[in-house]
Amino acid sequence: MFNIYIEQQKWDTRSQGSFHIITNLPDHYRAWMELANDLPNLIESRKLRDLVHKMPVLSTHLLNSPQELRLAHLALGFITMGYVWQEGQHAPAKILPRALAVPYWVVSRRLGLPAVLTYADSVLSNWKLRDPSKGIEIGNMDLVISLPGGGSCRGFFLVSLLVEMAASSGIKVGIVSCSVPFPLFNQLVMLIVTACAAILRKLTVCGLYYFRWRDNPMLPEGLVYEGVSNEPVLLSGGSAAQSTAIQCFDALLGIQHDNESGAFLTRMRDYMPPAHRQLIETLSDCPSLRDFILSCANPDLKQAFNDCVLALEDLRTYHVSAVTKYIVVPANRAQETGHSDRGAGDKLDATGTGGSSLLVFLKSVRDTTRKVLI
Ligand code: HEM
Repeated sequence: MFNIYIEQQKWDTRSQGSFHIITNLPDHYRAWMELANDLPNLIESRKLRDLVHKMPVLSTHLLNSPQELRLAHLALGFITMGYVWQEGQHAPAKILPRALAVPYWVVSRRLGLPAVLTYADSVLSNWKLRDPSKGIEIGNMDLVISLPGGGSCRGFFLVSLLVEMAASSGIKVGIVSCSVPFPLFNQLVMLIVTACAAILRKLTVCGLYYFRWRDNPMLPEGLVYEGVSNEPVLLSGGSAAQSTAIQCFDALLGIQHDNESGAFLTRMRDYMPPAHRQLIETLSDCPSLRDFILSCANPDLKQAFNDCVLALEDLRTYHVSAVTKYIVVPANRAQETGHSDRGAGDKLDATGTGGSSLLVFLKSVRDTTRKVLI
């Protein structure tokens, strides 16, 4: 299992350029990449839909490596988002044309992912180094594919990525501890979760959180994938709730979320790459670390475990304040003034997580974290 995770990490967050993440597809797929690489301009000038209508239906048989499939999923996902929302949030497209829908569906089936933009696409597979000879830091990083919104889009995706990178070391330590418990484990995890929180504090922009065709008042029936099914499909789009890293910390620390919140977070696993999903499930099935620490009656170990839990709680408390600042306050303001510049965003305050209020959900997840304190 450890190996699966490491391989996945090489794919997703560690590797660069020629090594793992690729930024172009075989020439056969030039039509996709030309649109994907020019999306901000094509969406803002409202030309994207016309160009998609002229796109040929390309077979996916020349996509061979996992990296090519992941890039194809990313490119088709972003083109789909641009296609659906080009005319603004109040006039989404209800049918995805065959040339987009059919290959997107097939690529998704091959990857074991849904045919919608996921967090694994927009964050884990969507970065490159501007100067490969220099290190990983936000000034030297860029997105492979962008949407309109320039800096805010870049900042949101890259800050999330840096959180994942910081978290990945903690998960590796955690996995080792499942078979060989050792006292340093908790101190390390706590340091890493604290580092995640520090990175999250760098966040200064709002995310594109309404990219979904489930629980979205602008697309109540979902989206029809032409050539795939005549019935509309309901899919949740990318959300940081699909972060494998945070759900791994929950599993390692034995945090079990309540009914509706837990069900939402479990459903988000369907939007993770299959190996990530499997990792969380394996960690959840491991013997309980908390029970082990309780049985040791070692005050240092107990303190270290509690420090980890408090660090994760702190991360979630900060996240609540970021969501309040970037979603809830603007949505309330828009409602008061009757001017919504966010379309679905203001309504998602009430319904974004499948019926429960956003802040109720996030606070319940935060409060449940604390319940495992020893
Ligand atoms: C201002 C930026 C951000 C906004 C507006 C935001 C918004 C949201 C929203 C609306 C949810 C509820 C789930 C949904 O409806 O999709 C959520 C959940 C979540 N977000 Fe964020 N988010 C932001 C930044 C981040 C970052 C950088 C991370 C780090 C990876 C993150 C991690 C999470 C996690 C793990 C959840 C699931 C709840 C939990 O486990 O605590 N978010 N976020």
